[in-house]
Amino acid sequence: MRKLSEMILVTGGTGYIGSHVCIALLDAGFDVVVLDNLSNSNQTSLERVQSICGRSLVFRHADIRHEEAIHAILRSCGVTAVIHLAGLKAVGDSNVRPLSYYENNVLGTMRLVSAMKRANVKTLVFSSSATVYGIPKYLPLDEKHPLCPTNPYGRTKLVIEEMLKDLCRSDDDWRIANLRYFNPVGAHESGLVGEDPLGLPDNLLPFVAQVAIGRREKLQIWGNDYDTPDGTGVRDFIHVVDLASGHLSALRNLRQPGVLTVNLGTGNGSSVLDIVRTFEAASGRSVPYEIKERRAGDVAACYADPTFAMEALGWKSTRSLEQMCADHWRWQLQNPDGYHGSALSKTGAVQAFPPSRMSACASAIRTGDAERIRGEHTAHQR
Ligand code: NAD
Ligand code: WQD
Repeated sequence: MRKLSEMILVTGGTGYIGSHVCIALLDAGFDVVVLDNLSNSNQTSLERVQSICGRSLVFRHADIRHEEAIHAILRSCGVTAVIHLAGLKAVGDSNVRPLSYYENNVLGTMRLVSAMKRANVKTLVFSSSATVYGIPKYLPLDEKHPLCPTNPYGRTKLVIEEMLKDLCRSDDDWRIANLRYFNPVGAHESGLVGEDPLGLPDNLLPFVAQVAIGRREKLQIWGNDYDTPDGTGVRDFIHVVDLASGHLSALRNLRQPGVLTVNLGTGNGSSVLDIVRTFEAASGRSVPYEIKERRAGDVAACYADPTFAMEALGWKSTRSLEQMCADHWRWQLQNPDGYHGSALSKTGAVQAFPPSRMSACASAIRTGDAERIRGEHTAHQR
């Protein structure tokens, strides 16, 4: 008989990084409940996650700003720890509507941790960002680098980090990890789960992939006159599967009370042109580009010092730039229109578990009754 395992709440679990975190958790034997308001994601991702892992998880369509809803989920599902990824993340958009970012990210996190406090669930892994460092004063960026984000999105991450530190100072029972991600790219090696940006992609890799598949004519490279080896911007691209495994390491290493703040990056800088060439090799397609003016707010180079991640979590990234591009391409090729082209989302067959089935499913998950879980799931699909 399978031993009883821990139930982890993943907020934002239908999104790009969250879906990969769910795979890592299920594969490691954790039980999972996902909370998401689907504002930037598609629930088809969870169908794919479950088919990859051969295990079910519970989905709740809810919002982190609703404390009562979160409290009910924590209690009814027997949650023991939370991985918190839900939030808004577009830098440009945050300049246009900053209050939405403070409301979703800061207020949402405040409501989440308030519900956790009430439910006595005091273990939290939080998605922070390397954007909290701002313009690098030195490279590679270690965790002691001064913090000075240059946009409202980044400032919400910093405010949350500070709020979580204050929480830990006030109560010794809290164990919190702030994970500062660098540039997550790639997709699960199955090609079933990946990044599905709505509209024009903000980030480099999804744009390159859409050019390679012919959805866009060419890439605009924002500047080739930086003080970098080839003049284009340099970043620390990290495979999303490595990033997801970093969450597992954080969860397992949160043994001491207090806050642990850790960079999740590779330590390697790659330029925009490195990405173009590696993607062309991985895909066998050409990626036409034109050089444009620098993008406002961009820095020349940004990459992590990953030393502390190894010391504190025993974690390091293992996947190469070639693998990141190959996996990103497989996802793009198999899902040219993202999840929206999938049969499941077209038929509308993917829905939230209704509350009646949710509790049965949650209890089945807790007791490890795989047949019953599949039964619940199948019944709901009909
Ligand atoms: P994503 O948009 O794919 O995932 C975020 C998820 O949160 C989405 O599914 C969205 O529907 C959900 N969500 C948003 N607001 C919500 C709310 N109020 N209540 C419930 N659900 C809500 O983004 P991602 O790339 O997977 O990023 C996940 C986290 O990692 C974010 O917090 C982001 O700031 C952080 N991060 C991302 C990157 C990156 O480049 N992708 C880098 C550093 C940090
Ligand atoms: C990478 C490089 C661009 C697009 C952003 C956020 C950061 C974090 C990760 C959440 C830069 C160049 C890009 C294009 C290009 N997110 N580029 N043409 O700016 O490092 O980080 O995402 O926390 O907060 O700021 O990533 O992928 O946008 O850009 O030339 O069409 O690619 O100029 O040098 P960035 P990015």
